[in-house]
This record gives sequence, structure tokens and C-alpha cells, in this order.
Amino acid sequence: MNYTRQQAWQHLRQHVNSEVLLKHCLAVEIAMRAYAAKFGEDVEYWGAVGLLHDVDFEKFPEDHPNHAREILTAAGYDSQFVTDVESHARDWKRERTLLQKTLLAVDELTGFIIACALVRPDKSLDNLEVKSVMKKMKDKAFARAVNRETITTSAAAMNVELKEHIEFVTKALAQAAHMPEYQELPLVG
Ligand SMILES: [Fe+2]
Repeated sequence: MNYTRQQAWQHLRQHVNSEVLLKHCLAVEIAMRAYAAKFGEDVEYWGAVGLLHDVDFEKFPEDHPNHAREILTAAGYDSQFVTDVESHARDWKRERTLLQKTLLAVDELTGFIIACALVRPDKSLDNLEVKSVMKKMKDKAFARAVNRETITTSAAAMNVELKEHIEFVTKALAQAAHMPEYQELPLVG
């Protein structure tokens, strides 16, 4: 299968209506594409996994990602692709590949970074500094739903410094926020 973001986006739209969830999927896609480029991996493939990682969440919030296989297989995605999507289950038992570790490491972090941007006076990712994100990581009252431990342990599993990881993902999101393909559903706002 040839992976294109246009096709992955169409498949996602068939199963997700929530703007909040769509924006989350876009943010994870951006981070996955950025890391794929950094690691010399397949940008389109990593991006498609990011875009579709929560494809079953809206319909099966209690049993996610256990319905990804039936949805994605029906859409023509191969077993490896589905496994890559399924691997971000928090209780995944197998050793994760680099792609799978990255997916887990950006899943929770992208939302946290966007939450940090939203409380800035300019509501922008452009001037968001790593130190401010790091500070908010320690503020338990801020964005309570975001699991700090998942962010920390998943970055460690990727073998990246948390600070570098935050900086890399923040930059990737800030750059993408200005691209035409991310204007329809702005990441922030
Ligand atoms: Fe997610």
C-alpha cells in the first residue's frame, strides 16, 4: 500500500467527527513526520500511523485501540500498519520499535504543548519556550488530564532528553501550524 496523507485523512474523517480529536490526530501526525525525517525513516508512513492512531477512539472510547484492526484492515491497511497503531496502547506487552516508541512519546506530549500555547497571551506556538513547558510539567493543576509520567517515561524509552524532545516537538508543531494543510483545523485555537 502506498501511504499518502490525503488518503489517511479521508479514512480518519470517516470515523472521527470531533474537531478536538481531529486536531489531536493532526498534531501527532506532525510530530511523527518530523521524527521520521530526523531518523531517516519513511515520513509518509510514520505520518499516516500518527494520523490514524486514534481512528477507533470516537466510536469505541472504552475499548480503544482494540477496534483499530477491523477499521483499518477494511480500509486496506496491512497488518504491520495496524500493529503500529495498536502499539500505543498503554498496556502494550511487546517491545516497541522506534516508530512505536515515538508514537507513544508524542501522543501525550503534543496535547500538553498545545495546552501550554493556549494559555499564552498570543495563543501561539511560535514563542513557546521549553522552560515554560518544563515548568508547567511540574504544575499539577495545569492540564491535569495529561499524564506526566507517560510523557517522561516514553521519552526515556526513546532515548531522548525530555528537554530536547519537548523542543523538537514544539518546533515541529509551530512550523506546521503555518503550513497550508493545517489551516482548515488550526492546531491552536
Ligand atoms: Fe492519541
